[in-house]
Amino acid sequence: MAINFKCLITEIPPQEGLVKVPTERLQTGVALPFNVYVKENNVTKKIFNKGNVLNKVFLEILREKGFDNVYINREEIKNLELYLTQKKPKPKAQDIKIAFNNYSFFKEKHYQIDKKLLIPETKVNFSIYNLKGFELNKVVDASINKPVITEQNILELEGDFVIEDKDIPLYEEYIKSLPEILKNLILSKEDEKILKNLIFKENSKVLMKELLKDPRSGEKIKKVGSLVDNIINKIIEEPESIYSLLTIKGYDYYTYTHSINVGILAIGLGIHIKMDIDQIQKLGIGAILHDFGKTKIPHEILNKQGRLTDTEYQTIKQHVLMGYELIKDNKNVPKESFTAILQHHEKLTGEGYPYGIKDDEIGIFGRITAIADCYDALTTRRPYKSALTPFFALSIITREKKDYDKELLKEFIKMLGNVR
Ligand SMILES: [Fe+2]
Ligand SMILES: [Fe+2]
Repeated sequence: MAINFKCLITEIPPQEGLVKVPTERLQTGVALPFNVYVKENNVTKKIFNKGNVLNKVFLEILREKGFDNVYINREEIKNLELYLTQKKPKPKAQDIKIAFNNYSFFKEKHYQIDKKLLIPETKVNFSIYNLKGFELNKVVDASINKPVITEQNILELEGDFVIEDKDIPLYEEYIKSLPEILKNLILSKEDEKILKNLIFKENSKVLMKELLKDPRSGEKIKKVGSLVDNIINKIIEEPESIYSLLTIKGYDYYTYTHSINVGILAIGLGIHIKMDIDQIQKLGIGAILHDFGKTKIPHEILNKQGRLTDTEYQTIKQHVLMGYELIKDNKNVPKESFTAILQHHEKLTGEGYPYGIKDDEIGIFGRITAIADCYDALTTRRPYKSALTPFFALSIITREKKDYDKELLKEFIKMLGNVR
């Protein structure tokens, strides 16, 4: 069976058929009905995703970078006229709040899976749901007694794919059976590698989810050490694997996915700047556990849409010290890893938290984790906000460069240089 995974995994910008639009015509406060590209040194780069809502700062960044024109796909030109005349819609606040509360409640009881691993025409024995725009739909109705063969068309749905928490062990079994299934598919070497990385990442996410559910389990924390070793080996053996480990972007933020992403980015940067392996291991453990304290924060606050009240913000800030409290006596976590947990929200300007320390007071693990954390947050979608492209996320972080270590940021951008 030949399946084109390429189109699912990477998005290639159109080389032809681009239409020029003057940057000054871009609107603020309105969702973009098309992807937006820029041309830099004859390379076309996607700068905004469809659905991004631009604000004044975004337009300022474009001007600063000298992008007087942007480009859209010719096929999407029909959306341009409407976009240029559109007024900012005013949705009813109460309706959104109810929809969001239901969504948030549901999300907490389900586990996000990677749809790229739902190989068409393969048997699954767990039900699968599609979550999109606060809406939930069952797309596969299956159980142990009633396995179902998956169909290609569900893969075309947008949004997140989730399963019930109780079905995670069945999903794990499914993941374990995949290498055998892949043997029967006609895949290019490159796609095979990408799928293997996806399997690795799904296994890592399951471990993280279990760990967050049972944060005091010494046994599970021990496994983080071997997970970090595996990530290090993968990236050293083949530096490009970092891209396929990172291309998995869901529709919403999940602490377990975010933790693994931040771990991968921090380890990648550690390797890129040629840190000692022993240091990279400690950095990786700290980066993966950086948001551990979020297990103690109510999910209504963690998942809240829009601006937090002062009290809610103070509550969220507590995740740093709470995470440290959970881990500080665990012998499987090296003491040096604590700085990644304690300092990932500190800023070089001294405006961060919890201690408001600055400059050299912030250790290298804290500095690296802060950059990885911010990058992953900006490039992750939310049901009410589309993700920024890697290119634009890096532009924003660079703009805030007083907050981050300049040299490390430069290396981070170099490391991600090939990601569009
Ligand atoms: Fe955090
Ligand atoms: Fe984080």
